[in-house]
Amino acid sequence: MSNPSLLILPGDGIGPEVMAEVRRIIDWFGAKRGLEFDVSEDLVGGAAYDAHGKPLSDETMAKAQEADAVLLGAVGGPKYDDLDFSLKPERGLLRLRKEMDLYSNLRPAQCFDALADFSSLKKDIVAGLDIMIVRELTSGVYFGEPRGIFEEGNERVGINTQRYTESEIERAARSAFELAMRRNKKLCSMEKANVMESGILWREVVNRVAQDYPEVELSHMYADNGAMQLVRAPKQFDVIVTDNLFGDILSDCAAMLTGSLGMLPSASLGSPMANGRPKAMYEPVHGSAPDIAGQGKANPIACILSFAMALRYSFDQGAEADRLEAAIEKVLADGVRTGDLLADEGVTPVSTTEMGDAILAALD
Ligand code: NAI
Ligand code: MG
Repeated sequence: MSNPSLLILPGDGIGPEVMAEVRRIIDWFGAKRGLEFDVSEDLVGGAAYDAHGKPLSDETMAKAQEADAVLLGAVGGPKYDDLDFSLKPERGLLRLRKEMDLYSNLRPAQCFDALADFSSLKKDIVAGLDIMIVRELTSGVYFGEPRGIFEEGNERVGINTQRYTESEIERAARSAFELAMRRNKKLCSMEKANVMESGILWREVVNRVAQDYPEVELSHMYADNGAMQLVRAPKQFDVIVTDNLFGDILSDCAAMLTGSLGMLPSASLGSPMANGRPKAMYEPVHGSAPDIAGQGKANPIACILSFAMALRYSFDQGAEADRLEAAIEKVLADGVRTGDLLADEGVTPVSTTEMGDAILAALD
């Protein structure tokens, strides 16, 4: 059998810098654990625009559809800010998500003990935190029609529409229940059924899907209360499922409980392919960080943890993902810090490559 395929799209800014470290980690798993991947690399975002005038070429799109998993760095940068909307680097990312139909966005918020002091919350509220937010990613208010800025009388009106079909809710809910079954069998669904019809339908469909997962303890919460609870007592949650808009906000909020943007991975999953693996793209939450790009300062951990998620969710290598996460845990416990993880002055930050070196050494 041929090796599973990985398409790597480093993108712009710090994307290529953090991805270089991931490539070394991938090579380590090939050499030391017999986990070989067929890796190919291609362009996305500004890099793709520079090469062929589009943020994602049709060829790259086709390769992404074929790949067992896509690993993306980050896109964007000031150089591209004035481009036409349809040519912006972000459109490349959105096209991947839309055409691969990646409807389930997994955003973990996990507190590494060594970084608990780094949280804006008290240490005992976040120490040991390990929750997962599942955000519906392909529908809702970011895609609903009608949308636009229209003339109405003698002023303009901006319109976006929150729209969810039952099947869109159902597949997102199902992926959250599946995840809950692999974790601690506890799921909280968040919407605003008190003021939004789409929320009423959301709650109804989630309850219906729940009948297929009797072992999962399901609760519902209004999303505004959910935001408060996330900050007040985040450890009450295990898996949270919510729509695209609330998920955008709640996952950013949850993420910050644990410290730096440089630590946050994500997975976006779609329907199973012929080989049973879900369509999948893995990427750090952070952007291209133009303020530190090209300086060797970027923290590669978010991107490396995204690869750990690929091991777990695309390649059924949960034990190897644990191994990689444990190596990162050890490096952090040893006090190795990139600049974004520095709370006190006395510590000298390591470079992107030195962080990669430390993780590889811990793996060995
Ligand atoms: P950003 O995430 O790139 O940076 C925000 C801040 O966090 C910056 O100070 C940056 O230096 C720091 N930071 C981010 N990642 C880091 C890492 N791995 N290590 C150390 N420090 C890190 O967000 P920003 O500045 O709003 O956007 C910059 C560009 O990235 C824009 O063009 C934006 O459109 C794009 N962007 C792309 C995303 C993606 O590709 N998924 C997501 C967010 C923004
Ligand atoms: Mg966001």
